[in-house]
Amino acid sequence: MEQEFWQTRWRENRIGFHEPAPNSLLKKYFDRLDLITGQSVFVPLCGKALDLDWLCAQGLRVTGVEFNQGAVEDVFARQGLAPEISRQEGLIRFQAGNLTLYAGDFFALLPALLGQVDAVYDRAALVAVKPEDRQAYAAHLNRITGTAKQLLIGFDYDQSLMEGPPFSVPGPTVQALYQGSHDINLIEERAADGRIGEHCNALEQAWLLKPRR
Ligand SMILES: C[S@@+](CC[C@H](N)C(=O)[O-])C[C@H]1O[C@@H](n2cnc3c(N)ncnc32)[C@H](O)[C@@H]1O
Repeated sequence: MEQEFWQTRWRENRIGFHEPAPNSLLKKYFDRLDLITGQSVFVPLCGKALDLDWLCAQGLRVTGVEFNQGAVEDVFARQGLAPEISRQEGLIRFQAGNLTLYAGDFFALLPALLGQVDAVYDRAALVAVKPEDRQAYAAHLNRITGTAKQLLIGFDYDQSLMEGPPFSVPGPTVQALYQGSHDINLIEERAADGRIGEHCNALEQAWLLKPRR
């Protein structure tokens, strides 16, 4: 059901969430993740975001997962990469150089398929998940990444003014989802632009989550 919703959006090219350039909050706050060359970052629900290319260019190993296989193929094509393709645990794995993308369901991704994860970059992923599935999303993300640190970019707005996705994920919800596993800091909030900014006074928020050890 959920998968069909997203596949239809891709088929009909209703992908207003796709940005024409790497996300500016990612570029601004990437350093806060304290990553070094060769470390790995996981990008859940990655779409075909140019953020993937930008993260690869920082010398990181980048892994993502996305329902839509065409989106995955587009990322490799625009980088001029011919990926090795294999089937793994119900997902299709595309791998070339430092980039590995799985076409399939995030919830089917197992820790063994991901390997070591040093950080998570969640942009428009948590906010894309239906509210009733958020808890499961956060728990699964923590499970498969070993509760990695995280740069999380989402929205806070009056949900009665607009239907999601993207859904509003206000601060108390971020806290409820991750306070058991992470120390949580709001590092920036700004007026959201695009469709969501036109509908309501939405805030785009960047959160830094550091695991409690
Ligand atoms: C709002 S978009 C964000 C994409 C990307 N993070 C970006 O910034 O452009 C959410 C994406 O998640 C994908 N998606 C939603 N649920 C998923 C799931 N359970 N497993 C894999 N991909 C999923 C959708 O196909 C869609 O491309």
